[in-house]
Amino acid sequence: MKSKTWSPDSWRGLPIQQQPTYDDPAALAAVEAKLRRFPPLVFAGEARNLKRSLAKVAAGKAFLLQGGDCAESFAEFHPDVIRDTFRVLLQMAVVLTYGGNMPVVKVGRMAGQFAKPRSADNETQNGVTLPAYRGDIINAIEFTPEARRPDPARLEQAYAQSAATLNLLRAFAQGGYADLHQVHRWNLGFVGRSAQGERYEDMARRIGEALDFMEACGVTGETTPTLRTTDFYTSHEALLLGYEQAMTRVDSTTGDWYDCSAHLLWCGDRTRQPDGAHLEFLRGVGNPLAFKAGPSLGADEMLRLIDTLNPENEPGRLMIIGRFGADKVAEHLPALIRAIEREGRTVVWSCDPMHGNTIKSVNGFKTRPFDRILAEVETFFAIHRAEGTHAGGVHFEMTGQDVTECIGGAQAITESRLGDRYHTYCDPRLNASQALELAFLIAENLKREREARRGLVAAQ
Ligand code: PEP
Ligand code: CO
Repeated sequence: MKSKTWSPDSWRGLPIQQQPTYDDPAALAAVEAKLRRFPPLVFAGEARNLKRSLAKVAAGKAFLLQGGDCAESFAEFHPDVIRDTFRVLLQMAVVLTYGGNMPVVKVGRMAGQFAKPRSADNETQNGVTLPAYRGDIINAIEFTPEARRPDPARLEQAYAQSAATLNLLRAFAQGGYADLHQVHRWNLGFVGRSAQGERYEDMARRIGEALDFMEACGVTGETTPTLRTTDFYTSHEALLLGYEQAMTRVDSTTGDWYDCSAHLLWCGDRTRQPDGAHLEFLRGVGNPLAFKAGPSLGADEMLRLIDTLNPENEPGRLMIIGRFGADKVAEHLPALIRAIEREGRTVVWSCDPMHGNTIKSVNGFKTRPFDRILAEVETFFAIHRAEGTHAGGVHFEMTGQDVTECIGGAQAITESRLGDRYHTYCDPRLNASQALELAFLIAENLKREREARRGLVAAQ
């Protein structure tokens, strides 16, 4: 039974999944108390701006691009890594805006994406069993008892890294790096030489010509600031509730509670129990929210989750991120869309083509075939075209680094090459070239959605 009154700690005592066991609860409480006095990372007004943008996505007038690491790590904390992920997202966004003719809402899985749900609590290697790695905010990846011990001090380090990451992202978004006149410079060296890079260069040239024309007409970065800056938001899975609670504050302008650790928070497929702690926590914060939907989610349960998270049916408040797998999406998604339409609920539909398409390679790497990722995205668009609903967005695990973690794509990464540059701390990510390839495909699908809608209007 859900408690009627909500408070930042009303989740405590409810059934909860995927939490670490700390051997020194007093040390954990002390860190949480300290975090409660630290400055919020985001401002509630920004979360409301994102909600307004997502309301446009829900209404079919914009597209959401959400992406970044599966798990950020302390070891890979470096300005170049942040910059490269940011610039691939900018590249993808410009491909979608130009090719798909849609404003793009950009959200990073960045500046706080640390905690990971795991399929097992423990891991056994050579007869030794230790707690599973749960993300750098909880423990360390090395397979030793010391590394795997959940350490409360890591919450503070995750906060500090998130603050510094967000600071750089804000500087890039507002300080000139994201100026559309720089569109040529966002092509990364190793991508520039590829077929995707050439395709991107070609598009960048046409954008440059359009900007020259607009400048001749008097529309410049000075007259039109949106050419110079961009809005960029942050998101992560709200998994480690002690941390999220510590970052939850009353917004002085509205008196409402916001989880100020990120603009958008989502609930994972493994923690979305209707009567569980994660739903209880999330229902009370004013941020835009999402939950992941895997093959086990039926329409009735989905509606229960929506009743809890968005009882007022506020547009932009809630996103459903499907992650069914290329072979299962056609079986599951249409029934969910129909239930939403029948009940008159407003949601943003997003597609995570990563988490339902993970396999083990012959040489033991966790990988994802690029073909299956493409196929899930294509099917997602085809289903929405058939249902007459808007394919609202996509959710990727990707990096700006030239990694070899997902097989296939134009670079034709093979299973035997996975070991070359396999750096992820958790799930395999798309590299910059694969991410760009996907963006071109999505832009084509957005065009087809528009044409299908025009056709419908013309036929009326
Ligand atoms: C994730 O997004 O990293 C994740 C664990 O996803 P899911 O909840 O869909 O398994
Ligand atoms: Co993942």
